[in-house]
Amino acid sequence: MGDGLLSDLARLADQQSRTHRYAVITDSNVGPLYGDEVLVQLGGHDRSSLFQFPAGEQHKTRATWQSITDQMLAAGFGRDTTVIALGGGVVGDLAGFVAATYLRGVPHIQVPTSLLAMIDSSVGGKTGVDTVHGKNLVGAFHQPVVVVADVATIATLPASHVSAGMAEAIKHGTIADAAYLRSLVGLSDRVLERDPNAIAEVVKRSVQIKADVVSEDEREQGRRAVLNFGHTIGHALEAVSGYQLLHGEAVALGMLAEAELGIRLGITDAGVLTELEEALSAMRLPTELSTSAEPATLLKAMAQDKKNRQGSVRFALPERLGRMARDPGGDWTCSASESVVIGVLSHVFKHKSHNDLP
Ligand SMILES: NC(=O)c1ccc[n+]([C@@H]2O[C@H](COP(=O)([O-])OP(=O)(O)OC[C@H]3O[C@@H](n4cnc5c(N)ncnc54)[C@H](O)[C@@H]3O)[C@@H](O)[C@H]2O)c1
Ligand SMILES: [Zn+2]
Repeated sequence: MGDGLLSDLARLADQQSRTHRYAVITDSNVGPLYGDEVLVQLGGHDRSSLFQFPAGEQHKTRATWQSITDQMLAAGFGRDTTVIALGGGVVGDLAGFVAATYLRGVPHIQVPTSLLAMIDSSVGGKTGVDTVHGKNLVGAFHQPVVVVADVATIATLPASHVSAGMAEAIKHGTIADAAYLRSLVGLSDRVLERDPNAIAEVVKRSVQIKADVVSEDEREQGRRAVLNFGHTIGHALEAVSGYQLLHGEAVALGMLAEAELGIRLGITDAGVLTELEEALSAMRLPTELSTSAEPATLLKAMAQDKKNRQGSVRFALPERLGRMARDPGGDWTCSASESVVIGVLSHVFKHKSHNDLP
């Protein structure tokens, strides 16, 4: 991770993978900004090609996976290919999944260009695409050979995405490091101004926390579940909004709703909610909980999420800031009855009718 690292990409890539060709996968926003620079770095058109798809979560699909895979096959990319995922989390997940399945798997390098991707999604090896049944339901575990995060690319990221990325940093503080969470409030102005040093500080600490959790549990059988804090309700909000809500915005609201759930279940210290709200507002993330979706629709979206077991809804919940709760069986998720979940959703979200929407 560093400032201006893209110019060093060729050396970093060659060090990590003995490859003949690079397939650089990117989206329609990032490609025009950084595609040429990366292709030149990677030996020009003789050694590398750019595969671009339209930006946006709605394109993180099997259709895009198929189109890019077919284009690579048509261009004759063989087993000596390394895939470069150049972009935000959507590109990272999609390109990682192409790499995981291309000729039964080729290496890939994550080059995250959004704050969310630097802080979170480029680390951990989860790749995949969305389906009509929910987010990330088809995918594979496929670790990148290296992650090259150039904080200078944050300069061109839209402001709403700077804030959205910080939702995951706030999550990392809440689940593992209260002092980090509190430091984010003080860092917020510099982060929102995209000061590269402040961004680098946050990326470094967040990646450490995520890597610590993941290295204990690569295949999500145990502690890795704590990274889902805010995501069970967050994913449901994101899906029912038709992906109008950014992932980080949905996670911000999901964390508030899940903290409230934890408080009602007697698991979460009430102070967590206050500090979460403070950190989210400092990063200009939504704290006003409003949705046009009915609680039952949200619950149904959650039931389709893969984190459910045996009909009950399970949540990763904080006990207090920096410490996650375990259920009596030692599990890192806690069970909540559907009626309690409905109660929380009805209480915390202002349910706008469609007529109230702008
Ligand atoms: N695999 C994981 O462990 C994991 C973890 C968290 C999130 N995710 C996934 O990540 C995705 C969200 O990632 P995201 O927020 O980065 O979304 P994104 O990839 O859609 O990027 C956000 C927007 O910013 C643009 N962009 C990216 N970098 C830019 C730059 N430097 N300059 C200008 N524009 C830029 C993109 O084109 C897009 O429009 C979701 O699909 C989520 O499920 C995956
Ligand atoms: Zn997330």
